Amino acid sequence: MNNENGEVTTDKPKRIHDQAPSELFSNFMKSGWAPSNLENLAPLEVVTYAYSRRQVLSSAFKGIRLVLPAGGYKVRANDTDYNYRPHSAFVYYSGVQGSDATADAVLVLEPSGDSHITYLYMNPRSTRDTDAFYRDAKYGELWVGRRFTLEEAKACYQIDTKHLDDLTQLLEDGKETLIVRDVDSNVDKKVVKHDREDEFAIFLSEQRLCKDEYEIRELQAAVDATALGFNDVIAAIPAAVETPRGERVLDAAFYGRARILGNDLGYNTIVGAGSHACVLHWIRNDGNVRSGELVLVDAGVERESFYTADITRTLPVNGKFTPAQRALYMLVYESQLAGFAAVKPGVLFSEINKACQAVLARGLADMGVLTVSAEESLKPEVGLHRRWTLHGVSHHLGLDVHDCAQARKEMYLDAPLREGMVLTVEPGLYIQPDDELFAPEYRGIGIRIEDDVMVTADGYRNLSENIPRHPDDIEKWMKRILGN
Ligand code: GLY
Ligand code: MN
Ligand code: MN
Repeated sequence: MNNENGEVTTDKPKRIHDQAPSELFSNFMKSGWAPSNLENLAPLEVVTYAYSRRQVLSSAFKGIRLVLPAGGYKVRANDTDYNYRPHSAFVYYSGVQGSDATADAVLVLEPSGDSHITYLYMNPRSTRDTDAFYRDAKYGELWVGRRFTLEEAKACYQIDTKHLDDLTQLLEDGKETLIVRDVDSNVDKKVVKHDREDEFAIFLSEQRLCKDEYEIRELQAAVDATALGFNDVIAAIPAAVETPRGERVLDAAFYGRARILGNDLGYNTIVGAGSHACVLHWIRNDGNVRSGELVLVDAGVERESFYTADITRTLPVNGKFTPAQRALYMLVYESQLAGFAAVKPGVLFSEINKACQAVLARGLADMGVLTVSAEESLKPEVGLHRRWTLHGVSHHLGLDVHDCAQARKEMYLDAPLREGMVLTVEPGLYIQPDDELFAPEYRGIGIRIEDDVMVTADGYRNLSENIPRHPDDIEKWMKRILGN
């Protein structure tokens, strides 16, 4: 669409049929429908947890309006969008879940006395007395399905709901307001930057460092669904070997499970067969899968609650590790055990990485590939072993796969572990195919073992302990599923 100056404008509502309906058609479409009410919607289990989270947030920013947008659709191509996924801070404080999450919603904590009252501004159901329900290809329910009415959303989330159309007036009233910026450009435009905005973003991240009971249950369920996804991956290996670009076969096998049991993938699955395992973010997944090689699969199911697992297993394609594969695998395995042992309250987060790297560096020194001693290599200014270890071994896990990303260093890397934190332990070794420092039988082998652990009062609980890790157990696991 062009405006009168001939410039392309974007103010036209997207995907509403251009031609206005005749009055006859409009009236016809709006009449003759049975009432549609979703009766007796129960409050979601998350409601009490989301309420407590808001109380904590409220007391840290008294007297200031707090605005957390869910964000809108993201264009994939022309007029098709990616599946909608709301922003994690919005999810954390609202409790909105799965397919009932509506694009462009905004959570507002409005100051009231010493606390805040919460409102959910949302685009409610386009009822049958509007033209939108059949004309609007982006939001109309004959196009994309039914949304909650304001009353229905209130029943589920136990938050007062308001129409999104009322938000502009609120945001333009000049009251002191903090927003989560860069999530919703409409909100960004209406609210001037506040000098506590960075502090606000950091607070939102740091509040999520320790998980509540609901979050632990959801993360465990995400891991359990992911375990089934790994079974599916193994079952698909014979087809992957037979099929050109077999990595895609394994990618698709896991994706099916993520969509069936969860909302989606928590992140793009990495399927690295052979030397593709040495490319850390190999998400092209367009390589062949060959007998005799390993295949590294890093994948996680995201639940309807938007919590995700993050698990990596490295599997021998033909079900048996070669001696060279097993030797490298055992080094990573021992490294991970050292990482697990470091996980307990009071220990610095960064100690997990140190424990893992120490084992890897010693193993690499024993293999004769380091030109300095392991102890020398482990000095931060030396770090030669990092040629093969490449990345840190832990991150927080939750609504985001790399959760709490805006937490300050002193609250994350340099902070003592606390009960209720959930993090990954994921050491790896990656011998590039052209690495002449290693004997030929090791070249092109990439191994990572990644588990999701919760810090307990006296140590840790491995949420993914039921997914085999030891090479003997992996071989048995594959035999059980593939029967050979
Ligand atoms: N899957 C991303 C990661 O392991 O951090
Ligand atoms: Mn990870
Ligand atoms: Mn991962």
